[in-house]
Amino acid sequence: MTDGKQVLDTQVATREPAGLSGPVLDSNAVTTLAAAQAPGITSPQALVTSVQRSTNATPYGFRDLLALDDFERHAKRHLPPMVYQYVVGAVETATSLRANRAAYTRWSFLPRRMVDTSARSAATTLFGKTYSVPFGIAPLGGAAFVAYRGDLRLAEAARQINMPMILSASSLIKLEDVFAQNPDAWFQAYLPGDQLRIDCLVDRVAATGFGTLVVTADTPVLGNREHNTRSGFSMPIRVTPKVVWQSATHPRWLLGTVAQTFYRHGQPHFENMEAERGPPMLSRNALRNTTARDKLSWTNLEAIRRRWKGTLLVKGLTAPADVPIARDSGVDGVILSNHGGRQLDYDVPPLDVLPEIAAHKGGMMVIVDSGIRRGTDVLKALALGADFVFLGRPFLFAAAIGGTSGVAHAARILKEEVERDMALLGVNQLSQLTPDLLRPMPSPV
Ligand SMILES: Cc1cc2nc3c(=O)[nH]c(=O)nc-3n(C[C@H](O)[C@H](O)[C@H](O)COP(=O)(O)O)c2cc1C
Repeated sequence: MTDGKQVLDTQVATREPAGLSGPVLDSNAVTTLAAAQAPGITSPQALVTSVQRSTNATPYGFRDLLALDDFERHAKRHLPPMVYQYVVGAVETATSLRANRAAYTRWSFLPRRMVDTSARSAATTLFGKTYSVPFGIAPLGGAAFVAYRGDLRLAEAARQINMPMILSASSLIKLEDVFAQNPDAWFQAYLPGDQLRIDCLVDRVAATGFGTLVVTADTPVLGNREHNTRSGFSMPIRVTPKVVWQSATHPRWLLGTVAQTFYRHGQPHFENMEAERGPPMLSRNALRNTTARDKLSWTNLEAIRRRWKGTLLVKGLTAPADVPIARDSGVDGVILSNHGGRQLDYDVPPLDVLPEIAAHKGGMMVIVDSGIRRGTDVLKALALGADFVFLGRPFLFAAAIGGTSGVAHAARILKEEVERDMALLGVNQLSQLTPDLLRPMPSPV
């Protein structure tokens, strides 16, 4: 005979596809059970006192990866200091980097209680596509030097989770190959102020089939990354005794990332900076062609808008005065970003300018990155007017230590935080997040 507990056990272990979240109690299960025993009446047997623990548990190697910051701790052991520093580092005094985190601590919540949030969902629609989560993977240059075939790992995890991933212009895998892995990926370009060179790249990206182009605006020149000079890192990387020593003392990374890449695919190159292949990643003398990036202007963006038929975004704005210019240039959205503190030191944290910018966004999407690490950060940004958010470093560390499943695990952690915090805050839909749910933190904590 089937008792109530057994019926429930067979029904509660439902999981979302692709291991997206923890075990979900199917809300129909209790109703089905009650109806089966006494239609219209909730019998005492229908009361559920226990549910089955998930059998689809976290992989053993990920068991102490509970929050996004945990990935950085693990990656620090796995990566040579120069590679770890390349990812974690920021320019000069690192004030923007710290300020990005501090900006999120200046807001507290005013949660609403006694709201039925059992139907809550983190699904978010952006540019006509519904994603499972309100966050995505920011463009991350050199990813395939940090993690084996890093760009493909990020793209595949994004496909599995159903979240956007932006392929970096400084990537080491051909954009055509990344598109084949994930046709929903976006492409980010670092452009020179030379329309002919721009047009050739834009045509290549369009011919591949990408639907979304992101033009990064905050890199007319490279920021002052002293941390790279100190640790021995450069792009392309020069093979010095220091680099050899750091690599040799991190054999898992050396064999698992560099040796495998050379053995299976040859020397990695900067494949997507321009329409043509760029220099190799390891080189004594070669440099990336960054000429004329400091000439890039709104006029170039207007010309791109006329040529590019897909969705167009500009990334790296922080000044509110730039936003109406972006809108007049015809972009579909802006990504407010200070490049995670990697370009101009003391560039304002995007969260601090978000309310002012969101108030005047018109029909554009306003997206934010830099410093987001927790579900509460995501909810604060959305409550202050962001339509979507991106994260950078945590996903690259996750790819370094766990490949595709590491990145998916990181996304799953953040999704669960978002969904848990929605319940604690009393909202069912992310569109219900408004500034009323926030209050400035009275004093620094
Ligand atoms: C290792 C690394 C490489 C990056 N490469 C690029 C890039 O190629 N293009 C770009 O627009 N932004 C790049 N960024 C900036 C990120 O896209 C994003 O703006 C930033 O990481 C967000 O801050 P967060 O790391 O605190 O989440 C890079 C960031 C890191 C950490």
